[in-house]
Amino acid sequence: MGTVVDAPVVQIEEKDASQNVLGGKKVTVVFVLGGPGSGKGTQCTNIVEHFGFTHLSAGDLLRAEIRSGSENGNMIQNMIKEGKIVPSEVTIKLLERAMLENENDKFLIDGFPRNEENRAAFEKVTKIIPEFILFFDCSEEEMERRLLGRNQGREDDNIETIRKRFRVFVESSLPVVEYYNSLGKVKKIDAAKPIPEVFEDVKVIFSTFNAKKDL
Ligand code: C5P
Ligand code: MG
Repeated sequence: MGTVVDAPVVQIEEKDASQNVLGGKKVTVVFVLGGPGSGKGTQCTNIVEHFGFTHLSAGDLLRAEIRSGSENGNMIQNMIKEGKIVPSEVTIKLLERAMLENENDKFLIDGFPRNEENRAAFEKVTKIIPEFILFFDCSEEEMERRLLGRNQGREDDNIETIRKRFRVFVESSLPVVEYYNSLGKVKKIDAAKPIPEVFEDVKVIFSTFNAKKDL
């Protein structure tokens, strides 16, 4: 009879972010998280310019999907109007397609994963592990001020939907940040500061990635 000592040692394979492969290419993914109006999009634009990443905003991809007349368009539009989170399947397909269509191998994924379902499904479907999570920390008061002032013609930038988005952020998105924090993967930024100061802090975090030569 075999004893416990004879039992084969099961080696749990630890996959890390350096082994991400998508469509035959190695990819680096940074998740950019933070409440609505915390400045994710603004800082992503800066990171793209300085560090050669491609910016993929989950919200922008969903809005483009509505405009494209997709069969999911109505459903997505209704979810966005209510500040609710679109089923992961839809969002992940858009993100995956955008990464496959792009020649770059460094991606900032902004506004995703927004809840536990987003996180687990992305990991399961793409097998991609994020390099780290860039987290923009900002008070609701400041975020509300920015959202009401930005006037981008977005249907969800009204006070009623903003409040719903804040609630979803606290209830569904913050737990994802906490999960990654428990893995030591969160790099937190004070996002209440003016844009150039926030970018100074962002630059320190991205300094391990080569800055583009012309900048
Ligand atoms: O990130 P952004 O503020 O552009 O997102 C706008 C809306 O898009 C969210 O409030 C939500 O309704 C939808 N969204 C989503 N799932 C994501 C990202 C955004 O459902 N991962
Ligand atoms: Mg945005």
